[in-house]
Amino acid sequence: MRRRRVLKLVLIPALVLLFFFVFSALPQNQNIRLDDALDEVLNRYLAHLPISLSAQKIHAIQKSLASAQPPKSPRDFQKHTSQVSEVCALLRSQKILLVGPETTFYLHSLWMRAQETYENRLHECFGYESCSHHICLPPGYATPKGHYKLPPQDRNKELVASGSVLLRYVLSTSLHTANDKNDTGYTQPVVDPATGIRLKNAPWLYQARKSNIVIMNRGPVPAPAWTFAGDKTFGNWSFVRQLPWHLGPGGSLPMEIVNAAFHETVTRFIPEVLQSLRTLQADPLIRSKILVWHASWFSGFVELKSFSSKNVGDPWALYYNAQVYMQNYLLSTLLPHSGVYFLPRITPSRILANSPLDPGPKDTLKFPLGTANAEAMETVFLKSLVELLERIR
Ligand SMILES: *[C@@H]1O[C@H](CO)[C@@H](O)[C@H](O)[C@H]1NC(C)=O
Ligand SMILES: *[C@@H]1O[C@H](CO)[C@@H](O)[C@H](O)[C@H]1NC(C)=O
Repeated sequence: MRRRRVLKLVLIPALVLLFFFVFSALPQNQNIRLDDALDEVLNRYLAHLPISLSAQKIHAIQKSLASAQPPKSPRDFQKHTSQVSEVCALLRSQKILLVGPETTFYLHSLWMRAQETYENRLHECFGYESCSHHICLPPGYATPKGHYKLPPQDRNKELVASGSVLLRYVLSTSLHTANDKNDTGYTQPVVDPATGIRLKNAPWLYQARKSNIVIMNRGPVPAPAWTFAGDKTFGNWSFVRQLPWHLGPGGSLPMEIVNAAFHETVTRFIPEVLQSLRTLQADPLIRSKILVWHASWFSGFVELKSFSSKNVGDPWALYYNAQVYMQNYLLSTLLPHSGVYFLPRITPSRILANSPLDPGPKDTLKFPLGTANAEAMETVFLKSLVELLERIR
């Protein structure tokens, strides 16, 4: 029972609210008992996981994070330069690695934008698979260009002398963890046979060993390429009928999509994530680092209000969002046992009213940089990160 209470506290009110919008629209007589099904999955895992001191410590920190006051009014989302200065103070002389899919890249872009405003310097990203930024340099400190030309040991000395921070992003859609940089998983285009979608994985373990903090994520399994064949609005979701039924009686397409999301999460996503994390834990140079998992966030949630069993709305968004809900539910409890902190609060709990300058999310996940909603997200993400790091220290 206690575990269930912890679980409830760890969940962000926003997720609950959104879940309400998505699932309250499901037919009432279809009692899918999703949380019960997820709790069953958790219990199966937890029965085999050792309760270590470090897992207890991480759980305690997460609990105190969850009880921190979430930002509410639009004023809370205004850009506070103090936030960036807090981040810089907490990360002084450290190396940070962000690794994950395009959403992680987007968080990195939000962060760099906040740095740009604070430092009045540009932090552009020229690479596609990875890029580095030298941030938090004291005003007037003259090295921005020369830093990467220094030999590594001088680079470290310089980092300490200036109190600045090195931040690196590496693209990895499935957190592939081969040690060999020449592994075909990195060097050759790999199409995931289960979805027909290409995986994009750059090597990152080497960077993780050199970093003090690793912030990672793996996003929802993409909808199979063949769902895009057929009807333009609804696609072809015939594959969901071929999956085993996990959530009670089916019958409607939305239910079947939620069931498919459950199937992917439980049979594929969680086992693969735990496998990646076992690789990290087996590496003494990575195990000792501060490991953080940033939650995934919901796509286009405004539109999901109109979702109903007759009118599917956007089936791709439902498939994505159902996975986000399930992943965050399971990972917030499982990750501490792998020595990883779950960072729950990434987005504001609601979309701010659109202003003429703020055209809304273009691809329903990422607001254009500089718009009010992107800045709100920038603030919430950095505030969450500061709150977590303050508690870890
Ligand atoms: C990786 O491949 C490159 C060029 O193909 C080669 O020079 C290098 O030695 C290889 N590295 C390893 C660790 O096998
Ligand atoms: C949907 O896909 C299935 C299997 O891939 C196929 O048999 C069926 O004909 C497709 N339906 C439409 C309407 O395209």
